[in-house]
This record gives sequence, C-alpha cells and structure tokens, in this order.
Amino acid sequence: MLIDGSTALVVGGASGLGAATVRALSERGAQVVIADVDVERGEALAGELGARFVTADVTDAEQLAGAVGAAAALAGGLRVCVQCAGIGHAERIARSRGPHELSSFERVMAINVVGTFNVLRLAAMAMRSNDPAGEDGERGVCVTTASIAAYDGQVGQVAYAASKGAVAAMTLPAARELAGSAIRVCAIAPGLFDTPLLAGLPADARQQLAASIPFPPRLGRPEEFARLACEIVANPMLNGEVIRLDGALRMAPR
Ligand SMILES: NC(=O)c1ccc[n+]([C@@H]2O[C@H](COP(=O)([O-])OP(=O)(O)OC[C@H]3O[C@@H](n4cnc5c(N)ncnc54)[C@H](O)[C@@H]3O)[C@@H](O)[C@H]2O)c1
Repeated sequence: MLIDGSTALVVGGASGLGAATVRALSERGAQVVIADVDVERGEALAGELGARFVTADVTDAEQLAGAVGAAAALAGGLRVCVQCAGIGHAERIARSRGPHELSSFERVMAINVVGTFNVLRLAAMAMRSNDPAGEDGERGVCVTTASIAAYDGQVGQVAYAASKGAVAAMTLPAARELAGSAIRVCAIAPGLFDTPLLAGLPADARQQLAASIPFPPRLGRPEEFARLACEIVANPMLNGEVIRLDGALRMAPR
C-alpha cells in the first residue's frame, strides 16, 4: 500500500511507539488521524504535524467508531490502521497477601485484547468499501501491537502476557478472513523500547534491561518500531505474521 497520499489512523498515537508511527507516516506523506485517550499530548502532536486528533478509548465502541469514521471520511478512505494503544501491568498470581485481583486482569484484557479487536473490526469494516488500489488491488492494511511477552512472559506478567498472546493469535485468522476483502493484517511484537512505558523505571533497572539485549545492547527506539510499521504497510507480501522486533532478546523468567 502506498503511504504517500493515504489516510492513516494511529490508535494510541499520542505517545511512545504510536507517536513515532504518526510522525513516520506523516513524513512519508500520509494524512494521519490520531486516536487516543490522552487529549493533551494527542492534540499537541496533531497540531505540530497538521494531523487530526480524535478522543477515543479503545474499549468504547461509539468513541472508536467516531475516530474510524473521521478517518474514513477523508480522501481515499481509511487505508492504513496502526493500533498501538495498550497498557502494561505487573502482578503475581498468588501472593502472601492474596490472589491476583480479578479486576486488574480484566482491565488489561479489556484494553489490550478487546480494545485491539475493537480497532480491527471497525477499521476492517471501513476498509472493505475502499476502491482497490495498486497492482494488487489492496483496500487496506492493519498493524497491531503485541509484545515478546506473548512468548517469554516473565513472573508477574501473567495478565499482560495473556493479553499480548491474544493479540498475536488474532493476526492469522484476521488476515485469512480479510484476504477476501484485500485487507492485510500483521502484528509487531516489540522487545524493550524506550517509551514512557519504561521511562518510569529507575535508571539502573533500565540499564540492566538494555544490557540483557544481545544486539544491539540498548533499548529500541520508537522510530525503529515506526520503520517496521511503515514497511508492513508498504510491502504487500507481509501478511498474517507476528514480527518480533527485539534485538534477539529472549526474556528470562524474572
Ligand atoms: N515500550 C515497550 O518496550 C513495549 C514493548 C512491547 C510492547 N509494547 C506495546 O506497545 C504499545 C505502545 O506502548 P508504548 O510503549 O508506546 O506506551 P505509551 O504508554 O507511551 O503509549 C500508549 C498509548 O496508548 C494510549 N492508551 C492507553 N489506553 C488507552 C485506551 N483505553 N484507549 C485509547 N488509547 C489508550 C495512551 O494514552 C498512550 O498514548 C502497547 O500496546 C504496549 O503494550 C511496548
């Protein structure tokens, strides 16, 4: 799918990996709509780049339909959707003070799994009515964000790992179904990236994490995630795959 001139929706685009993707798509000539719950950062980024911002919580069907509708109404319809909204969570299954809260597990699943599916279903529905474009007659491309925790979940990551495992697992059935509408679906499974999600950790913990990455032994840069998201959009043979982006990191149990 040609990025230049296409309309792209980046959900969770106000910060971190999503914000870098907004910048990368915008630099490559896409007309970008940012959807996020963080109004202040989302509006600031949209203002800086001449993009549009729509307030939308991924767990809210109506708000998200508004964001997808705003993108679909722009020239050429919604062609590219990158879903980066998500939350982290650390909690053990059984501790001396009691079991893992059910409510925290449900919240992680609601935002990371139901939220991602909400984005996928509404974006795909909007893309179905696009005119076929290019040599392959593509109608759209959806990129979601899993995590290497889907495969190497650490102690305390049971909710987060389960949620990202679900995001990874929806990729192939989604790509298989939407192939009939010429819509591709891929997921990126990032390792450790330098975003506000990790910025809260003390400097020595961040250094330790960075040193655990085989090569390059540093945290990933959000721009590197954005480059892969753009390649997925541009390369028509990338479909139905979850791509690890992690410098060969395999996380230890703790
Ligand atoms: N940073 C990493 O190392 C890393 C590694 C693996 C996976 N990921 C995943 O990448 C994605 C982006 O993470 P990040 O590091 O950029 O984090 P981030 O906190 O910088 O960005 C997440 C964005 O999602 C938005 N968001 C959160 N809940 C939302 C909701 N309910 N509705 C709409 N927007 C919502 C936030 O406001 C924020 O703008 C997440 O899904 C995260 O799990 C990150």
